Amino acid sequence: MCGIVGYIGKKQAAPIILDGLARLEYRGYDSAGMAIFDGERINIKKSVGRLKILENLTHDGKMMPGLLGIGHTRWATHGAPNNENSHPHFNEDETIAVVHNGIIENYLALRKKMTDKGYHFRSETDTEVLAHLLDYYYKGNPLEAITKVLHRVSGSYALGIMFADHPDEIFAVRKDSPLIVGQNEDGCFIASDVPAILKYTRTVTYVENQEIVRLREDHMHFYTVDEEEIAKTPVTIDWDANAAEKGGYEHFMLKEMYEQPKTVSDTISPRLKGNEIVIEELNMSDDEIRAIKKIHIVACGSAYHTGVTAKYVMEGLARIPVEVDVASEFRYRNPILEEGALVIVISQSGETADSLAALRESKARGFKVLGIVNVVGSSIAREADNVMYTWAGPEIAVATTKAYSAQLVALYLLAIKFAQVKETIDEIEFDGMLEDLKRLPDQIELLLNNKQRIQRFANRYIGAKDVFFIGRGIDYAISLEGSLKLKEISYIHSEAYAAGELKHGTISLIEEGTLVAAVSTQPALYQKTISNMVEVKARGAFVLAVTCEGNKEIEKAADYVIYIPETNAYFANSLAIIPLQLFGYYVAVGKGCDVDKPRNLAKSVTVE
Ligand code: AGP
Repeated sequence: MCGIVGYIGKKQAAPIILDGLARLEYRGYDSAGMAIFDGERINIKKSVGRLKILENLTHDGKMMPGLLGIGHTRWATHGAPNNENSHPHFNEDETIAVVHNGIIENYLALRKKMTDKGYHFRSETDTEVLAHLLDYYYKGNPLEAITKVLHRVSGSYALGIMFADHPDEIFAVRKDSPLIVGQNEDGCFIASDVPAILKYTRTVTYVENQEIVRLREDHMHFYTVDEEEIAKTPVTIDWDANAAEKGGYEHFMLKEMYEQPKTVSDTISPRLKGNEIVIEELNMSDDEIRAIKKIHIVACGSAYHTGVTAKYVMEGLARIPVEVDVASEFRYRNPILEEGALVIVISQSGETADSLAALRESKARGFKVLGIVNVVGSSIAREADNVMYTWAGPEIAVATTKAYSAQLVALYLLAIKFAQVKETIDEIEFDGMLEDLKRLPDQIELLLNNKQRIQRFANRYIGAKDVFFIGRGIDYAISLEGSLKLKEISYIHSEAYAAGELKHGTISLIEEGTLVAAVSTQPALYQKTISNMVEVKARGAFVLAVTCEGNKEIEKAADYVIYIPETNAYFANSLAIIPLQLFGYYVAVGKGCDVDKPRNLAKSVTVE
């Protein structure tokens, strides 16, 4: 996510802003910039890459004197990481500067409107539209201009704004993207998150949705979008600086697990227009979709596990044959790609060497590649023919959670879209699935907020030596990810098995007290999975079951049951994985493992 810092007060603004942006680096970014008012005009400096480059460019801010300013670290969403697209953005006569975190969903229409009115754009960003809109509505009253603009934009935004002819104030605005303000004896501050200003003040005010803050050297005023002044109550932050980067969570992994409702919603909502699924970035006509004869999904690790899920969902809904490969196998097995094949490469980082190689191999053979990627401007995103971004924001923990969940719903959207175009589902099924998709964020949040049972259960298995995850169909795909989550952060050996396959050898490993997690979310397979649970129990296993509310029969075969809310069976992975993520996390925490940076692992495996 982008980072915003602003300051107005008695001290030089640039060094304070640079220091604040440095404390937001954990949010992930690809460029940075600052706008400082020097007493006569607003000066902007930007740079691509690490913040150090901007620090060097401005001699740690000394080259940009002034007592007020706004700064930004950009996590690219609209437009590649380059100088023109970096923030802050100016209006044409450089008298208004804006920094933005979020997505303006109607920016294309607004951009056209401003272009038609004679405005010229320097960048590809949605943010620059705001600078020109402010210019258009500005008649000398900043608050009036800001509120007029807010009534015309839709989407999410945290904004820092400054006006050259109002050098005694800066403005902050918030809708959905987090923003705080603070004050000390030297001035007032804007920040995307607490760590940026904790060094200067522990008294902060959280800006709520549709609120505007006018900050002056020694006071702040809060307004609604109707320009009504409101009173706000500051809070005192008692976190230490390190904890603050994690938003008060103990680990980034836990913080990112709790971000899953938002990342799932952020990945779904821009692609739902009314009651239609619109995936513009797919760049495929209905005829081209109908012409797809086979889908090859290629990925690594957890991304591969979403691919295994997608096989069941896409074949079940759209009746298109799907083949799923780990990228390191695909690239060397001389795969058979035939006319009508669509290759989908899934990658959070967009830099995984094997997945990138698989993409290049497919393109070299003349096949179109769709990337499902989280990092804008990454290698896989740049080299794929089309990219469907998962708007999960930067994922810091090595063990993926929120990106995994975002990948799942991106794949669901594709499968439902394909099925609708191929008419393998009817309108009632389509509408029902959209409703189920929209419910997922709240259901995920419910599971996260009721984590106590799985947390207590996890504490019983800190000393476990072997844990098995079993399931059939989509439940097997869920088992793959549940097993990986446990082993990669707790270092406990674990295997995932197709439940029907266990008796073909591995069941010999089941001993008295061996934990077997049985995933059973597919009603058509409930009975089959219960039989497998009975098999392992007969050999001494302790069976944890993860199943849907209402499946009471499973309690006869399980020793411990975690229920997930009802949803479409095709989407069950999005819910069943939550208790399994929590299980792995709390076992690892109980063992004192380095949850965010597990041994031997890298966040992005850029080597073979
Ligand atoms: C998942 O928790 C792991 N960190 C790992 O398996 C990861 O999913 C895999 O390396 C693929 O990474 P990518 O999505 O960035 O390509």
